[in-house]
Amino acid sequence: MNYVLITGGAGYIGSHICKFFFDEGFVPVTFDNLSKGNKWSVKWGPLELGDLSDEGRLKRLFEKYSFIGVIHLAALSSVEQSCAEPNLYYKNNVIGSFNLLQKMIEFKVKNIVFSSTAAVYGNPIFLPIDEKHPTQPINPYGDTKLAVEKLIYNYSKAYEINFISLRYFNVSGSDFLNKIGEAHSPETHVIPLALESIKNNNIFNIYGDDYNTKDGTCIRDFIHVKDLGKAHFLSFKKLLSCKACEFINVGCGKGFSIYEILDSAKKITNMGVSTSIVKRRDGDPDILISNIDKAKKFLSWKPKYSDINSIISDSWKWHQIYS
Ligand SMILES: NC(=O)c1ccc[n+]([C@@H]2O[C@H](COP(=O)([O-])OP(=O)(O)OC[C@H]3O[C@@H](n4cnc5c(N)ncnc54)[C@H](O)[C@@H]3O)[C@@H](O)[C@H]2O)c1
Repeated sequence: MNYVLITGGAGYIGSHICKFFFDEGFVPVTFDNLSKGNKWSVKWGPLELGDLSDEGRLKRLFEKYSFIGVIHLAALSSVEQSCAEPNLYYKNNVIGSFNLLQKMIEFKVKNIVFSSTAAVYGNPIFLPIDEKHPTQPINPYGDTKLAVEKLIYNYSKAYEINFISLRYFNVSGSDFLNKIGEAHSPETHVIPLALESIKNNNIFNIYGDDYNTKDGTCIRDFIHVKDLGKAHFLSFKKLLSCKACEFINVGCGKGFSIYEILDSAKKITNMGVSTSIVKRRDGDPDILISNIDKAKKFLSWKPKYSDINSIISDSWKWHQIYS
């Protein structure tokens, strides 16, 4: 059997990746502690309950399945929480990844696609951000991801680990037809928050309107979760066919301000929303826009569903089913 270990497979992005790999003939084995994920979203392969901190549990997992590779998504990922409780983030994200890599070495599993983030870059020095941009995270979350990238890179040299680290920009959208979508708790991402406010007639908080951008709100680059699923699949296929040791941006290469997101959400839902300007959240850079030339060239990938209106529309369809 083509077993692929998906850590964090019960989470938002992980569930979409499981679906993608299942459709391509792999057996996605989800390893998740369900701290943030949902049992109902694991539909395309077995769910193995466990925590990355539990080395004995990881050993039993690797004994049970003969994995051909790993997609490593399991992590805590709230920028704001990471600023308030960095200890949780270093322990869960860095030590958890260390434990996973140890088991990969022990069981001779060589291939890993790692869920990294644009947060490794910090405040951009130039735009759009390519992979050669300096990595200077401005929050502990981004720093934990950078630490894991360095860990994997050094392990790749010493232990022949074959890896692609995908640096995601902002992920949204859903595979609503398969009843999976964004269900973080608490939700911290702008598109689901905007849609929740619209649906429930709540005030939408804008975290700062004094950023150095055209309308004062943060600018972000959004990628549809289905495009991200494909990027993982193409990365994994690459690892199976040749040696790789790469860091690759995945975004759509365009930026949208919070006001632009709200305008699009209002049009798509045909509903209004009240807003309130509140203080900035810790650790938010002004602008993040990706250069995705490397993903296009190296993975032969390009975003297909990542038009901002399609992303919001698919998120809206999911929100109407889910919440
Ligand atoms: N959502 C985004 O926009 C975005 C952007 C950049 C990077 N990422 C990265 O993508 C990955 C997935 O993000 P998501 O939005 O699907 O988050 P999510 O919280 O929905 O999924 C993460 C999953 O990992 C599990 N998990 C966390 N720590 C674990 C541990 N120690 N042991 C076992 N399971 C554990 C959680 O229960 C959850 O199911 C994360 O690594 C995140 O940092 C996400």
